[in-house]
Amino acid sequence: MNGLRPVTVITGASAGIGVALARVFARNGHALALVARREDRLRALADEIAATGSPKPLVIAADLQRSDAARVIGEALAAQGAEPQFMVNNAGFGLVGTAAALDRGEQLAMIDVNMRALTELSLAFVDSLARHRGGILNVGSMAGFLPGPGMAVYYATKAYVLSFSEALHSELKSRGVRVTVLCPGPVPTEFAARAGLSDSMAPGILTQSAERVAEAGYRGLMQGRRMIVPGLANKLVTLLIRGFPRRLLLAIVDRRQGRRRSAQQT
Ligand SMILES: NC(=O)c1ccc[n+]([C@@H]2O[C@H](COP(=O)([O-])OP(=O)(O)OC[C@H]3O[C@@H](n4cnc5c(N)ncnc54)[C@H](OP(=O)(O)O)[C@@H]3O)[C@@H](O)[C@H]2O)c1
Repeated sequence: MNGLRPVTVITGASAGIGVALARVFARNGHALALVARREDRLRALADEIAATGSPKPLVIAADLQRSDAARVIGEALAAQGAEPQFMVNNAGFGLVGTAAALDRGEQLAMIDVNMRALTELSLAFVDSLARHRGGILNVGSMAGFLPGPGMAVYYATKAYVLSFSEALHSELKSRGVRVTVLCPGPVPTEFAARAGLSDSMAPGILTQSAERVAEAGYRGLMQGRRMIVPGLANKLVTLLIRGFPRRLLLAIVDRRQGRRRSAQQT
């Protein structure tokens, strides 16, 4: 051991599922480091968690779109005498629209946040995760099981998260590092507004609260599970998807996203 204290680093802890994950980890006795761009929100959450009697979380303002984000986070942790025991890669966003019509720079930024930063942060701290017998929770999506016309780059980033995390689960097992990929369906958060949908998603059978998703992810990680799809209906759908012809899936997603886009235009 090197004298650094172990913390759970949670990216995207300024909103939605990230806030819920922070509360679940804190409730279960983990010291936290909260990461996102909106520092005021992180500070408010850190105060809220400290008020419950848990250790006050560290706050690290960082933009995961930047290529030096992992270094900035590592240095900020070390400067405060901490190192990761658990790494929760939750930050991410989507964009609704056809890939050729959407802004190319924004779509590449999505790849930077959803894939590049997640990959670097999964790999950067493996020694310290192993030292503290911790692990990695990567937030994917049910979208990772499908091709996604109408949100093509987002679905593809989540397919990457799923594939990468499952492989890492297998690779890091021998080092005692747990790796779990959490694949939620629709969750009412700021995600829809950020994706360009002005209306929030109408709740359906697959919709789960951020709290339920976070609880399921936490439990799955602690149990060393490879993949968690929160919700019974959601699990069934992902099982069905795997047996469905790809051509049919494309047509179904295309129709659904097309309906969303025309609802936006009216
Ligand atoms: N909501 C859903 O329906 C749903 C379904 C399946 C999977 N997911 C996944 O769940 C994860 C969390 O999404 P959410 O629903 O909680 O969305 P959200 O409410 O919009 O929160 C997104 C979080 O990501 C952070 N983030 C975005 N860009 C960032 C950047 N460049 N640098 C640092 N942090 C950044 C945001 O923080 P700042 O803006 O403060 O930086 C925010 O904390 C995402 O990976 C998403 O793909 C969501």
